[in-house]
Amino acid sequence: MKIAIMGAMPEEIAPILEKFESYKTTEYAANKYYEVNYKGVDLVIAYSKIGKVFSTLTAATLIEHFRCDTLLFSGVAGAISPELKVGDLVIATKLAQHDLDITAFGHPHGYVPEGSVFVEADKELLELGKTVASEMTKEVREGTIATGCQFIADEDKKNWIGEIFGADALEMEGASVAVVCDALDVPFFILRAISDAADMDASFSFDEFLETSAVESATFIMNMVDKLVSK
Ligand code: ADE
Repeated sequence: MKIAIMGAMPEEIAPILEKFESYKTTEYAANKYYEVNYKGVDLVIAYSKIGKVFSTLTAATLIEHFRCDTLLFSGVAGAISPELKVGDLVIATKLAQHDLDITAFGHPHGYVPEGSVFVEADKELLELGKTVASEMTKEVREGTIATGCQFIADEDKKNWIGEIFGADALEMEGASVAVVCDALDVPFFILRAISDAADMDASFSFDEFLETSAVESATFIMNMVDKLVSK
């Protein structure tokens, strides 16, 4: 087993890198990849930079160049569901691209021919995630995540995404990582901790809670890694 651990921003992988005294840094395809052996299992850790294009490149590199066979994503998201509060964790059961739009040709939002609106997460990793959640005293929910190359700070736009995709949270990388993993047959698990409510206060809330929410997500992901390496 070789596990990829991915975030989009430095803050999202910093709490994971901090767990290791040393790691090997490799520069590849204009990005840095951090390799470490943890309890006998190889991990490759990287942040992609924000958005679907960079996250696609990083996910593909982790799989095709570094030969990772399982991918875990850790990061933050904006809440759509009013039940989700800052710090709560959302495990993606399925993901869609909310900004993919060829509706002019009669297709549904998020769909292109030969694709599908939603990519479903790996069932075994979801089960493992449930076990980890049950052992933690945190609010963890399963839900649909919508991804697009926009920071959403607008109640109407957020509600539109919620209605069209039935999404509980939104962010900027999950669905593209899911498309890569699905196409290359690599099981993936995408976890997000809420940093804001994607409303008019979103940018302030994001700045305030990015680091603490990233730690919540990273702690959960490391518990997943512990379960995977002891299997
Ligand atoms: N990630 C965290 N908050 C977000 C938001 N409001 N929009 C897009 N991505 C996010």
